[in-house]
Amino acid sequence: MLFNQNLDELIKARRSIRMFTTEMPVKQDIEAIVHAGTLAPFAGLANTGRDGRKFFIVSRNNPLLIQLSNVVKNRASIIAEQLKFQMNSNPLLQTQGQGFLKRLEMTAQKGPLGIGSAPYYIVVAEKRGIPDVQHQSIAYCMENMWLKATSLGLGFHLVSITTQMEQDNEFCNLLNIPIGEYRLDGCAIGYPAQNPPQPDRATVEEVSTWYF
Ligand SMILES: Cc1cc2nc3c(=O)[nH]c(=O)nc-3n(C[C@H](O)[C@H](O)[C@H](O)COP(=O)(O)O)c2cc1C
Repeated sequence: MLFNQNLDELIKARRSIRMFTTEMPVKQDIEAIVHAGTLAPFAGLANTGRDGRKFFIVSRNNPLLIQLSNVVKNRASIIAEQLKFQMNSNPLLQTQGQGFLKRLEMTAQKGPLGIGSAPYYIVVAEKRGIPDVQHQSIAYCMENMWLKATSLGLGFHLVSITTQMEQDNEFCNLLNIPIGEYRLDGCAIGYPAQNPPQPDRATVEEVSTWYF
């Protein structure tokens, strides 16, 4: 019963934290978060076992962080140009793509949020397989890490531009992984410098259709 209540509180407490203090989380906490990630489910048919999922933990103190940030910045600029080109000939994309385009342009100008603005940037890589379900798999891993970070009093946000770096030669070289062989996603972790208000969530009644 106590376990159930704690879990409910933890799930409710999980938020996207996008502003961090300068304090560095201790290595043991980051290890515990990565450990939670290793416990997340994976697709048995597609996963290649122990070698299947990798974690690249880059601290703000390592020069690699600024290198990764610059590479992501350049990639964001390229994707923004490609998206603008596609939007010109696709009216649906023109309306629906505006938000993403704005985010890409901001990233291309100011650098990616979470890579440098947080004490830690973590890239999770999962070896591609058949079926191609590694992004789903990484999402479960991220959720485990997110909940663990929350339980330790740490802030977390997704850095999903990382998914766009799978085919980027420089990014993969910097992490020493073969280009195109891994699905990627990323997150930022540090001590929260904000306490965002509770968002308006739908009630169970509003979103459920029951078939008794
Ligand atoms: C697939 C996916 C990608 C996301 N990408 C980002 C991201 O790149 N940066 C970010 O700050 N938040 C990202 N988010 C977080 C959402 O914006 C956030 O979860 C949502 O606004 C609800 O807020 P909460 O996490 O505080 O509950 C992403 C969420 C999902 C599900």
